[in-house]
Parts: sequence; structure tokens; C-alpha cells
Amino acid sequence: MRDVIVAANWKMHTTPADAGDLARTIAGRTREAGVIRVICPPYVCLAPVAEAVADDDPPVAVGAQNIHHELAGAYTGEIAAPMLAGLATWVILGHSERRRDAGESDALIGRKLGRAVDAGLRPILCVGEQLEEREGGRATDVVDEQLAGALDGHDAAALAAAGLVIAYEPVWAIGTGRNARGADAAAMADAIRSSLEGRGWGSRAADVPVLYGGSVTSANIDEFLTEPGIDGALVGGASLKPDEMAGIVARAGLTARARSAQR
Ligand code: PGA
Repeated sequence: MRDVIVAANWKMHTTPADAGDLARTIAGRTREAGVIRVICPPYVCLAPVAEAVADDDPPVAVGAQNIHHELAGAYTGEIAAPMLAGLATWVILGHSERRRDAGESDALIGRKLGRAVDAGLRPILCVGEQLEEREGGRATDVVDEQLAGALDGHDAAALAAAGLVIAYEPVWAIGTGRNARGADAAAMADAIRSSLEGRGWGSRAADVPVLYGGSVTSANIDEFLTEPGIDGALVGGASLKPDEMAGIVARAGLTARARSAQR
């Protein structure tokens, strides 16, 4: 049975002075058996967040929002995967805001993926189409190309063992208040697993968690989690609001309980 995951992407919000309190508040309001909670704050807030949630039960994982594709060197302003030891155990890769602002290509994201796995970080690989690509009927092809570009050349067994998670985040839904329809996200989750299956993953593809991301709120999370192919959410704006996170993770708890009852 696949993990149920709610990951909070705090993007460029919070400071070292306030991030710990926010993380503690969210952690205290989202304790749901069977739901993996991940908080991804800015780098400078990793330590206070890790400290704030260290004793939470069930555990709260801490993730970074990016890593560099090299291990060390003359890369001003960058952070390498091994530097996150003791601070983070997860990492978001290939977020559309980084594809847009930092020009990250699928190949570069693929290199980061290798670094994440080598450093023992659990990767959340983000994929998703632009609005004109969806309207042109090309959404599935675009996502398939993103997967091919980032994953080909990697050993499927190693990525599966690292717990690779795919986040389907249609670009037009991120931060816009315009979420995808649950049925469309579920169709994409199926397409993602088929794509993996065809690129050497075989039956392992069925075990890969697929999250939906893009304007997720406590009011619309149900639409996604009623879809059996969707295993949780990558939440941006709403992840900074404890009330919203409480609602989202409570709904994820229902899915986790239903799945464990089916076992
Ligand atoms: P949003 O962001 O929930 O604010 O749309 C999601 C994301 O970018 O991961």
C-alpha cells in the first residue's frame, strides 16, 4: 500500500525567528496516524524547524526545497545535498518555480535526483504542464517528457528504494487559486505510473506515491484524495496556515485509515 503524504512547501516565507513556532503549531494540529508529514522551509529555517518538530509523534519530516547538482565547489550561493545531513531528510526537486526562475532543465533535475539519492534524501520530483499545453491536449506528453528527462539513466530499483515521490503540479494551478479537477489529476497520476512502467520500472511503478499540488486547500483536498491513484498533496500557500494544514491532514488521515482497513 502506498504512503499517504502531505508535504508543506513554504517557498520563500518565514524567518529563523518564526519558523520553529509555526512548525510546532502545525505539527501539534496535524497528528494523524498513517500520514507522513513533511515540512519544507527555506534553507535558513531548516535547523529551527528540525528542532521544533524533533520529538513530534508521529514524526514530522523536514525537507529542503532544492539542492545543487554538484557535491562541492565554486558555486556561490548554492547548497549541496551532503550539507543537509542532520537538517533534512527529504528534498523537493524540479519545482516549476525553479524551472522558470533558475532555468532548471529536466537533465539538470535528473542530476540533482542522483545527488539526493546518494545523500539519502527522499526526493519529491515535481512535474506539470503549462496552461497552453493542457489546452492544446499535450499535458500528458509534456509530463512524460519531464519524467524521461529526469529519470532516464537512473536505476529504477535505486530510485524506488529511495522512496521517490512524484508531485503532479500543473503550472497554471500553482498559486492561482485555480486547482485542477480531481479526475484530471487522477488521470495524470495514472499516466505518470504508466510512463514509469514503460521506462524500466515495471511493476514497481504501481508503488510510487503521486501527490497533487496546485492551490490545494482544506476545502478542495477531498476532491483529490477521493481518487485512489492520488496519495496526498504538495501544499504551498495553504501550508503556512495551521487551520488549513489541520483540515488537509485530517482528510489525508481518512485516506490512510481507509487504506489500512483494506489491507
Ligand atoms: P500552491 O503551491 O499550493 O500555493 O498553489 C503549490 C506548490 O507550488 O508546491
